[in-house]
Amino acid sequence: MSKHVLITGGAGFIGSNFVRHWCKNHPDDNGRVVVLDILGYAGNPANVADLEEQERFSLVKGDICDRSLVTELLTREKINTIIHFAAESHVDRSILGPAAFVQTNVVGTFTLLEAFRQHWEAQAKPSHYRFLHVSTDEVYGSLAADDPAFTETTPYAPNSPYSASKAGSDHLARAYFHTYGMPTLITNCSNNYGPYQFPEKLIPLMCLNILLGKPLPVYGDGQNVRDWLHVSDHCTAIETVLNQANPGDVYNIGGNNQVKNLDIVHQLCDLMGELAPAMGMELPTAPRELITFVRDRPGHDRRYAMDISKIERDLGWSPAYNFETGLRQTVEWYLQHRDWWQPLLSEEYKGYYAKLYGQR
Ligand code: NAD
Ligand code: TYD
Repeated sequence: MSKHVLITGGAGFIGSNFVRHWCKNHPDDNGRVVVLDILGYAGNPANVADLEEQERFSLVKGDICDRSLVTELLTREKINTIIHFAAESHVDRSILGPAAFVQTNVVGTFTLLEAFRQHWEAQAKPSHYRFLHVSTDEVYGSLAADDPAFTETTPYAPNSPYSASKAGSDHLARAYFHTYGMPTLITNCSNNYGPYQFPEKLIPLMCLNILLGKPLPVYGDGQNVRDWLHVSDHCTAIETVLNQANPGDVYNIGGNNQVKNLDIVHQLCDLMGELAPAMGMELPTAPRELITFVRDRPGHDRRYAMDISKIERDLGWSPAYNFETGLRQTVEWYLQHRDWWQPLLSEEYKGYYAKLYGQR
């Protein structure tokens, strides 16, 4: 039976990588592939432009909080699967303005769950319908250096408005399974990197600042640890969960790859120092000289690490990318795609950048 998928946030970083992965892996499928995205600052039609020619694909500009639009799409496109990426996704923006995070991440997820419940019930609750809610490791809070990694049963302890709003949405997705029997799935993933990531996030921000000769703002002492996963590995994990997991299941996804921020910044400096000149681009300043320690992020989580033994054991998924190779490919991608990122350095972005980094 064909899957007719609604991919919310499919014009963002992970969503667009997932749509591309999905279309590539279902080449002759008659299933619809519908992206619903508000096309805000992080949602970019260019991220999915190469898919526009496919008849089964459509990009709909709209808000997940718009109940009548969501209901209309579910009915018209005969959607039987939602993969829900849409969110306000950046911790620093959630500190500057938390309201949008509660609206999209909590109210938006609730709107989607309600619309899908009505749609699923109207079809007499087909057992193959799925609602996969994409979430984050940040809902589990912060680890000390020697703490064991997060498992699926680690109690939630979100510390930022972003992670608190994601936690709220996870609880709603869970409740819809337990209360209504709606076939929801939840994945909690660690930090992603790879092509099409918006420049506000650590890795692309450092790449672009090196190219532009701007300071590399390292928060606090730079010793915070994240568990980095290539976005392609995240895509295969989501598809694996979608195909194999039982309704109500929760899976942690991660890279078994804990790295300190400062080590990443050093790696990026060295990769850019090597690759940019080789591709005919002169760097204005020696990259490591740009490193600048700045005031820490309020409430900055010290360490994230995912225990992924459940998905490895139950579903046979594990990450395929090696971080060194993945990071090199990512740096090459940003060097080769100036036409993609240059327009993103808009007045809105410059205003955000000045507000966040101006007084640090
Ligand atoms: P992103 O910010 O690049 O993309 C989010 C997308 O959602 C954008 O295209 C945006 O336009 C869209 N969107 C925002 N509000 C919307 C609304 N009200 N209606 C419709 N669309 C809306 O983020 P991302 O990094 O691709 O993250 C995608 C999902 O994965 C999020 O749910 C995030 O919490 C989760 N996640 C991200 C990471 C990571 O490292 N980036 C890790 C784990 C989980
Ligand atoms: P980020 O990419 O924002 O992801 P998250 O906060 O969701 O983990 O940041 C990754 C890490 O890098 C985090 O510890 C904060 C740090 N960081 C900096 O040191 N400087 C920066 O300019 C940014 C954006 C992040």
